[in-house]
Amino acid sequence: MQRKAIVAASLLVGLVPALSIGQGDRRTITIEVYWPEGAPLLIEGREVARDGPMRRFVSPPMPPGQYTYTIQAIITGPDGPKTVTERVNVRPGDFESIDLREPGRRPIGDVEYEPTPQSVVDAALRLAGVTARDVVWDLGCGDGRIPITAAKAYGCKAVGFDLDPERVKDSRANVRKNGVERLVTIDRRDLFQLDLSQGPTVVTLYLLPRLNARLLPQLRKLPPGARVVSIAHRMADIPPDQHIIIPTELGEFDVYLWKAETLRGLGRL
Ligand SMILES: C[S@@+](CC[C@H](N)C(=O)[O-])C[C@H]1O[C@@H](n2cnc3c(N)ncnc32)[C@H](O)[C@@H]1O
Repeated sequence: MQRKAIVAASLLVGLVPALSIGQGDRRTITIEVYWPEGAPLLIEGREVARDGPMRRFVSPPMPPGQYTYTIQAIITGPDGPKTVTERVNVRPGDFESIDLREPGRRPIGDVEYEPTPQSVVDAALRLAGVTARDVVWDLGCGDGRIPITAAKAYGCKAVGFDLDPERVKDSRANVRKNGVERLVTIDRRDLFQLDLSQGPTVVTLYLLPRLNARLLPQLRKLPPGARVVSIAHRMADIPPDQHIIIPTELGEFDVYLWKAETLRGLGRL
């Protein structure tokens, strides 16, 4: 069995892809953990130091394979201490985020808001080969920058979905500010409830590896010719049709492209 280790990385800030430390094909794994204030935190059964409500942990460079980390917080309530446990399956190169806080203290959606740098948005839409005939859906649209850029740069229709009312308000204001009301719609919807078989020809994602994997059954219903672009994160074990790396001031961003046919396992066209 491979030895697992993960250490605190207090210098990493912002939702950026995991840093890859070159050692042959070994890569690091980064796990961001949010926990209830004051609660002891254990990783792989060992208590780790905490300061503030969130901490990032980075493994040493790991050989390819799947690794499971068990993360626990011990919460003291009126009925005594209670252990909250999450197990996360990760691969070298992954960035994952785990939230052990009480439901009322977590973000409304499944992942914290973090905008994609504009240069990465531009590259992602170029990689998808967007044209005026496409319909772009951004699942978890944040401030709306992806659908707005798609409409402005390519003249296509675009829809942004977000669960957080603040993000929806912000996106709608940005749609108006950019004068793309006729092309862009923003909907407050849970992305895991969307039927992808009818609307989009291009889907964009900036989520997490485990959320991409959960979305896969929906993505497999996309029509032939549709494309999926994921910023920063892999899609289960499906090799992308294309992969580019965009350097930014926040670090390098991986951008992956899959054709709908590839996601359905029909092979590359
Ligand atoms: C990392 S941000 C990406 C924002 C934007 N797509 C971008 O690239 O700039 C993820 C967004 O997904 C939203 N989100 C998380 N879970 C969601 C869900 N289940 N349904 C809809 N939106 C969700 C969050 O509110 C957040 O705005």
